[in-house]
Amino acid sequence: MSLSISFTSDITPSIKEVIKTFPLIDSGQNAKEIIEKSEYIEVAIDNSTKKIVGYLILEPKSLDQPINLHYIEVCGEYRHQNIGSYLVAHAISYAREKRYDRLSCMATNESKEFFQKMGFAGENNILEIRLR
Ligand SMILES: CC(C)(COP(=O)(O)OP(=O)(O)OC[C@H]1O[C@@H](n2cnc3c(N)ncnc32)[C@H](O)[C@@H]1OP(=O)(O)O)[C@@H](O)C(=O)NCCC(=O)NCCS
Repeated sequence: MSLSISFTSDITPSIKEVIKTFPLIDSGQNAKEIIEKSEYIEVAIDNSTKKIVGYLILEPKSLDQPINLHYIEVCGEYRHQNIGSYLVAHAISYAREKRYDRLSCMATNESKEFFQKMGFAGENNILEIRLR
């Protein structure tokens, strides 16, 4: 059966609670606060299991600074099926609509190539993409 995924940025309190339990997110207070205060969250849901299989979080910023992609994670067995690309593409559309100039992210060594494929560039692991 082929994979069927839905994406939504209509985030309920119960979705936030599920994201907080994800394996890779920093379990510290900081990450939980960022989830509560984030400007934009999008999740990917497997339509057959109704489970969240990926998410992306944008931190709030003022319009004269780049908006920051705080974290993106796709569950292990769902990786390399374009879910991360869709999440980033939707975040770029959102940031453009909100008139941000740039979207930044702090890539890990493992995720840098993924972000570069999505059009992010920069020195070391601090990457950004121009939005207009
Ligand atoms: C990084 C991550 C979100 C990518 O999600 P994904 O759904 O697997 O990505 P996609 O399937 O959309 O991949 C898009 C492209 O990037 C490439 N890519 C994905 N992950 C990659 C990686 N870790 N290294 C190199 N290239 C990668 C894919 O091969 C694909 O290239 P293609 O279009 O030429 O085939 C996922 O690997 C993840 O959750 N990693 C752990 C958390 C993390 O590191 N987050 C980033 C820090 S904020």
